[in-house]
Amino acid sequence: MPRLTVPAPLLNAADFPATLAGRTRRLYDRVAPFYSISTRLFHSRAHQKLLEVCGIADGMRVLEVATGSGEMFLRLVKSNPNGMNLGLDLSPNMAARTQRLARRQSPHSYVCCQAVDARQMPFRDSTFDLVVCCYLLELLAAEDIARTVEEFHRILRLHGRLALIVIGENTEIFNRLYRVAGALAPAFWGRQVEHQVVDFIEAADFTVLHHQPVKQGLYPSRVLVARK
Ligand SMILES: C[S@@+](CC[C@H](N)C(=O)[O-])C[C@H]1O[C@@H](n2cnc3c(N)ncnc32)[C@H](O)[C@@H]1O
Repeated sequence: MPRLTVPAPLLNAADFPATLAGRTRRLYDRVAPFYSISTRLFHSRAHQKLLEVCGIADGMRVLEVATGSGEMFLRLVKSNPNGMNLGLDLSPNMAARTQRLARRQSPHSYVCCQAVDARQMPFRDSTFDLVVCCYLLELLAAEDIARTVEEFHRILRLHGRLALIVIGENTEIFNRLYRVAGALAPAFWGRQVEHQVVDFIEAADFTVLHHQPVKQGLYPSRVLVARK
């Protein structure tokens, strides 16, 4: 039986009863052609910071989970032109777009993106040196965060690294706006999980090596790197 450990505080604070995967997939499929605008405006600084601290080196086996429109994936492929670069996203349109852009940018690199649900990934144990995942955990229910982080642990090799970005919670005005957005469209926005994310990672036997806040305008993020 798989080991599933949900940190106690989140069990009680389950204001997001179930992962709304069907709706999430449809919404992100629709916004795929223009989602890169939002990523450039709000996520690019944290992406750059994560790239600097995640320990990527050419020749690695790298997986990005929830690529969205592919901006972080393109950075990863550029840093790992002779390695293996796999990407996945629940939304087929996001995965297809990322695949197209990466093939165009790096035609000689090993790149492959597919539509896959992060909660159950079709990879053998200990496949990857580095797993990267940006702004996904907000969209998952507590037990699915635990399941997904367990999956990260399973597919990483011993001492492999997990590099994560979550939305920050250190700006009160932003938090209020986020709560409103999350109540209006929970499948798209989810809810903030910054305060629980370290508990989830440590519950899955990762050791946190690095975490730091990054701000882009009013938009706060937290960058984390952990080792299996
Ligand atoms: C907020 S966007 C972030 C996109 C990108 N990582 C970035 O940094 O800009 C969340 C992405 O997670 C994907 N997603 C949501 N649930 C997922 C799941 N269960 N498995 C894989 N991807 C998922 C969505 O389709 C969407 O592309």
